[in-house]
Amino acid sequence: MTTKVRAVPASKGSSGPLGLLAEFQTDPLALLGRLHREHGDIARGRFLWVDNLFVFRPEYVKRVLLDNNKNYRKDPFTTGILRFFGQDNLFTGDGDFWLRQRRLMQPMFHRQRITGFGKTMAEGAADMLDGWERRRAANPGEVFWLNDEMMQVTMRIVGQALFSENLSAEASRLGQAFNDADHYISFRFKNPAWQTWFPGRRNAGARIARDTVVTRIREMIARRRLSGKRRDDLLSMLIEARDEDTGAGLDDEQIRREAGVMIAAGHETTAAALTWAFYLLATHPKQEARLQAEIAAVLGRRAATIDDVSALTYTRQVIDETLRLYPPAWATARQAIGEDALGPFRVPAGMNINIPIHAIHHSPVYWERPEDFEPERFAPERTERQERFSYLPFGGGPRQCIGNMFALTEATLILAAVIQRYQLHVVSGHAVRPEPVLTLNTSAGLPVTLQPR
Ligand code: HEM
Repeated sequence: MTTKVRAVPASKGSSGPLGLLAEFQTDPLALLGRLHREHGDIARGRFLWVDNLFVFRPEYVKRVLLDNNKNYRKDPFTTGILRFFGQDNLFTGDGDFWLRQRRLMQPMFHRQRITGFGKTMAEGAADMLDGWERRRAANPGEVFWLNDEMMQVTMRIVGQALFSENLSAEASRLGQAFNDADHYISFRFKNPAWQTWFPGRRNAGARIARDTVVTRIREMIARRRLSGKRRDDLLSMLIEARDEDTGAGLDDEQIRREAGVMIAAGHETTAAALTWAFYLLATHPKQEARLQAEIAAVLGRRAATIDDVSALTYTRQVIDETLRLYPPAWATARQAIGEDALGPFRVPAGMNINIPIHAIHHSPVYWERPEDFEPERFAPERTERQERFSYLPFGGGPRQCIGNMFALTEATLILAAVIQRYQLHVVSGHAVRPEPVLTLNTSAGLPVTLQPR
């Protein structure tokens, strides 16, 4: 017997001219959590005049991202906003364009390549710690803003590994530009009627942020072309890329767009994940002690290298659990090209689909004690029981994050290096809340003091 396909009923709060927008503007995570609590597998609601489906049930998510992925393109609302910073790239593109770019860049992220980046990652962590030690020697009580420290180290590592460039000297200027861009993008998400031609400081500021990044990356490409040198990195790979059929290469503007998106996607997300991991460890002494014991047993007092990553199993579980509780990509979205069905529910052609990753990760339907920090749930014997697509910090299907192994390896090495040397204490009285900007950040940063072991 076939079940009749029916429309998803509109959720509470969807009537009125704004639909769910005001609630989204106030607290997007709370809204997505409420929709899941009240509607279960799937919900429907409007932002202004645009109808959306919110898909929670892992089986439905799997259909959108994997089984029937060809029917779902990147959603035009998000890509439209991101296009303010440049035309299509691997992240925003679709169809044949996307496939060509993905095939081109995939080899840079193969396992052996990531292993090759291990040295850069370990050196980045070691240099950061040496800097901390010098600062602490001068001022033992210094407060370290871990969110900033993590942005700098991940920017340095992505710059060195993928572009053979030292971005650390200007990490703060570039970092500020990316940060401004993030806030602008987040504002645009919450204000769908906003136009880029509106006069005033907001659009002007975003243009400055964009131009800072564009100029810096153009210089980087020009320098490489001028040097005539080939390096074993993503930049040389992009410069040398040739279309199999036409033999045409990528022009510098396309190279610039791909480089820009790699730096943006490749540092803020990992920095946010690490910041949250340090916050969780500083507030959960039992888990921190277990982690420290693992690091001491595996490494003793020597620095971690890429060869240690596979033995640092609990370290990795801490990262996995952090990515569950505070997924840097807290939601993603698609648009249905043609009509489809998710279980008994009709998906009309053109419908926007929101996949609320944070709400799925916090669901009591898919997780036991979802609010608890329990890295042990990612022990290999327990993950076997976990439902696929109930855990998707890196998305899923063919458009799964290209940098997932890069990020996990980098995070493992940095986490182990820091915890080996220091116990962290969050400055007392400092409240930490998740702030969903483009990535899920700590609302007012993470100030800590360091206690050497
Ligand atoms: C903890 C760190 C990271 C998280 C949580 C994360 C998350 C994600 C997610 C959820 C997607 C899929 C978006 C979608 O389906 O709509 C994605 C795509 C992507 N990520 Fe990551 N990412 C991380 C690190 C990185 C790194 C280190 C890089 C590069 C060095 C990177 C580059 C990209 C790119 C280029 C895409 C687009 C891939 C495509 O559409 O083919 N990410 N990421």
